[in-house]
Formats: sequence, C-alpha cells, structure tokens
Amino acid sequence: MNFQRYLSAKRSVDDRALDRRVETRLAEEIRGREDDRLRVLEVGAGIGSSVTRLLARPWPPDRVEYTALDIDPENVAFARERLPAWAAPRGFAVRRAGENADDRVVLTRGQRRTEVRFRTADAFEFLDATDREFDLVVAQAFVDLADPADALAAFRGALASDGLAYCPITYDGATSFDPVHDPDFEERFLDSFHRHLDDGGDSRAGRHLLAEASETGEVLAAAGSDWVVHPREGGYPADEAYFLDCIVAMVAGAVRKEGGIKDDRIAEWATRRREQIGDAELVYCAHQLDLLVR
Ligand SMILES: C[S@@+](CC[C@H](N)C(=O)[O-])C[C@H]1O[C@@H](n2cnc3c(N)ncnc32)[C@H](O)[C@@H]1O
Repeated sequence: MNFQRYLSAKRSVDDRALDRRVETRLAEEIRGREDDRLRVLEVGAGIGSSVTRLLARPWPPDRVEYTALDIDPENVAFARERLPAWAAPRGFAVRRAGENADDRVVLTRGQRRTEVRFRTADAFEFLDATDREFDLVVAQAFVDLADPADALAAFRGALASDGLAYCPITYDGATSFDPVHDPDFEERFLDSFHRHLDDGGDSRAGRHLLAEASETGEVLAAAGSDWVVHPREGGYPADEAYFLDCIVAMVAGAVRKEGGIKDDRIAEWATRRREQIGDAELVYCAHQLDLLVR
C-alpha cells in the first residue's frame, strides 16, 4: 500500500463527507476577526489536502501563514512537491522562500498571500515546544490517533486567546462493510479492530472530543461527516477502489496485530472484501464527526 496514494484517493471521499455547516461557522468566525492575518497550524497534515482545500475557499483573509506538520517525512516531502504543482495551474504565483528547516512556499493570487511552512515533527512535541501563537489549529482525521482530551489541551496551549480548533473527520466508533457474509464473525472482527484503535488512540474520539470540549470550552459547531463509499455504474468514482483496498488492508492489519482471531480467517475476510471491491459490490461506511471548538 502506498500511503500517499491512499491519502490522495481519500480526498474525494472527504469532499463528500465534510460538513458544510461546520465549515460555514468556521468561515464566519474567521471573517468576524479584526486581524486580517490568519496563523494556522495543521497537525497530521499528510500530503497537504487541507491546505489546498483552504486555498480554494473564498473566506480566508488576505494573509495566511500556514504551518503544515506531519510526523512522516515521506508525507511532508510529497506535500511540499505537490503544493506548487496544484497551485500554479490555478493561477497562483508560486515562490519558494527560506532555507532548510525554514523553507516555505509563498502563494499569491490577487490580494491573497498564503505562506506555507512544512515541518516534519511529532505534533505533540511541536505543540509543547512552540512559542508561536496560532489562531487556528486544524486536525483532520487526526484526533482518534491520540487521547482526545490530551489533544485538545495541547491544541489550546498553542492557540492565541479566542483561537479555534477545527477537527473534521474525527472517527467515532462505527464501521460497516456490506454485504456481510457471517454477521457474528463480522461483529467480532470489527470489535477487534476498535480494540486495536483504542491502544494508543481512541475509537470513539469524536464523541469523547465533543464531551471534553463542551466541558472545558465552547463547541461552536458539531456535525456528522461519515464516509460513505458505494459503487455506481459498475465501479467506484475517482480512485476510491484503491481507497477501499487500503481500508481493507488497514482494518485487517489492525485485527492481526490485536490477536485473538486466526490469521487464515483474517486473510479470508480480506480476500472476500477485495473480491467485493473488484465486483463493485462493497459498500463501506465510517462514522465521523466534524467539530469546531473555541
Ligand atoms: C489519517 S492521516 C490524515 C492525513 C490528513 N490530515 C488528511 O486528512 O488527509 C493521519 C496523519 O497523521 C500523521 N501523524 C500520526 N501521528 C502523528 C503525530 N504524532 N504527529 C504528527 N503527525 C502524525 C500521519 O503521518 C498521517 O499523515
């Protein structure tokens, strides 16, 4: 599995899933500020999908300073190369600035200037050490990899007063693959998957983040952002067949690591799911939440 291609294939699934009302509230909050500069930190930025999404929106202010951080150097290298290739055909003037650890890509179009810094780092170490104040932390498909309360506290530590955390696509404890061959086995299988996620992360991060944010701050908007991938006209749109192959591999890998289910049963499950993808039969849903928190 190529992780960068997986993240790229995920984009069309995310585009359908992201909740527009939560984003509208984010846009209103940003537009309501007096400062015409927005300092953004994105943690777990992957190949930079969220920064391109932001650049395509009309609501950010004219000056954006965007730090895109990921722990995986391959993701960061990919994001760094991909951004100019994405931006130039869309009418942005692209300039590289800075050197080595401070390299930046500066994108201008009309009045708008966005400066993107790429960082390879552990998000929590960076958040802990940062002396910069950010107006917005973006954490897409990230909070379920950690303890949601710890993540929120770390985000708050790096935010200016009145700063916001936007956490879209936060996994929230429900996955389904259809059709189901053996319902009892499928339940055991997905329970095992969730137990594995709970080891170091949180398989119900969405609801736990919502509860924690309500208790310790203000939830400005919250809504579901489920992934729904289903066949149309005998196939899957964009690169979503590859996305499904990766999901099957990741779920099977997690169950294997968790132990308790025999390897040959896991392999059988994965083979059947791959056949269903090949036959354009598989329907996959994952429940997630988008949250905007002060
Ligand atoms: C599910 S991917 C989401 C990527 C991107 N936000 C998106 O939605 O396309 C999670 C990302 O978090 C990164 N990651 C995991 N743990 C991290 C950590 N402790 N610090 C920084 N990045 C991390 C991974 O390398 C991966 O790129």
